Amino acid sequence: VDIDPSAFEHGDVSGEPRMYTEILEQPASVERTLRGRLDERFGTAHLGGLDMDARDLRAFRRVKILGCGSAYYVGQMGASMIEELARVPADAEPASEFRYRNPIIEPDTLYVAVSQSGETVDTLLAVEEIRRKGGRVIGLVNVVGSAIARACDGGIYLHAGPEIAVASTKALTTMFVGFSLLALQLGRVRDLSVADGRRLVNGLQRLPAQIEEILKTEDHIADIARDLADAESMFFVGRVRGYPVAREGAQKLKEITYRHAEAYPTSELKHGPLALISPKVPTVAIVPADELTDRNVAALHEIDARGGPLVIVTHPEVDLGDLHARRIDVPRNETELDPVLLTVPLQLLAYHASVHLGLDVDKPRNLAKSVTVE
Ligand code: AGP
Repeated sequence: VDIDPSAFEHGDVSGEPRMYTEILEQPASVERTLRGRLDERFGTAHLGGLDMDARDLRAFRRVKILGCGSAYYVGQMGASMIEELARVPADAEPASEFRYRNPIIEPDTLYVAVSQSGETVDTLLAVEEIRRKGGRVIGLVNVVGSAIARACDGGIYLHAGPEIAVASTKALTTMFVGFSLLALQLGRVRDLSVADGRRLVNGLQRLPAQIEEILKTEDHIADIARDLADAESMFFVGRVRGYPVAREGAQKLKEITYRHAEAYPTSELKHGPLALISPKVPTVAIVPADELTDRNVAALHEIDARGGPLVIVTHPEVDLGDLHARRIDVPRNETELDPVLLTVPLQLLAYHASVHLGLDVDKPRNLAKSVTVE
């Protein structure tokens, strides 16, 4: 396994919390996940570790993704990508729940276990259960030779490099990239055109530089984080591709600031949570430039009208009209790949809020880096 030694060096930012160095490493870690796996000519990905040929890949009629915590949220992002690019029904479920509902294991379902550590017991036991019942599981795993990597039929190593901080950052962005590669390969053996494949290959190649661009806006994000840190409770909202981004944003903030953060689909606001909106309850909204932008903006007016402070993570071309909001712009990529770029500012938001509150960023109370007991 080819791991870049720079993954182990943090010389230029030593003394900083690990989470911070891991956030800054993302352009390099994403680059490593992609290395040697993109095929520009045929607009596809090569994933030798899957140990499956085009015929095997075409035979799957469904994809089921299993992971815990943030790995589950990235799994949701992955499921949308697989549905969009490969047109195969796909969904994600917490591995911690899956095993307890006597799941039906189908031979024509591709099961995907996603885990940074490769040691999360709920994910491991789910893999073992699927294999016992004759299902085929691949792993999206960071730690080489870990229990989950060994238990799977094949897989994709993430090559994120060691991740030490409890709050996962670079592993998650590389998981997203791993799912993009899988979706691309699954798509290309089905109906995805070579032109679309090349469009995505090109988009994936642009990601490291675009993450770098977002990291340069750190001061602006830190400024917003200091204001958010004072709120006891907040919402994170997004729609469709943006919803798992919102869930991951809320998770990161909860883990390292101990603030109450709850994620909702933006479309669900009027079905309940709007009752809680007030000048004391901010909302962080994910509003990419896509087919839902106008609907998103309309829903956010309901928050604005009730004096709810708004932070909007969006693209430069989105016109927010007369909304009272602080905005964080991220560069645009291909629509399918946008979620990973929308996630990065939320890491910095949580990080700076935690630093502002004087908390231990790397070792949040009550949490372990990997949960190896039931
Ligand atoms: C992420 O910030 C969390 N610390 C947590 O949700 C984590 O993603 C989860 O426990 C899964 O860990 P794994 O990827 O090592 O399986």
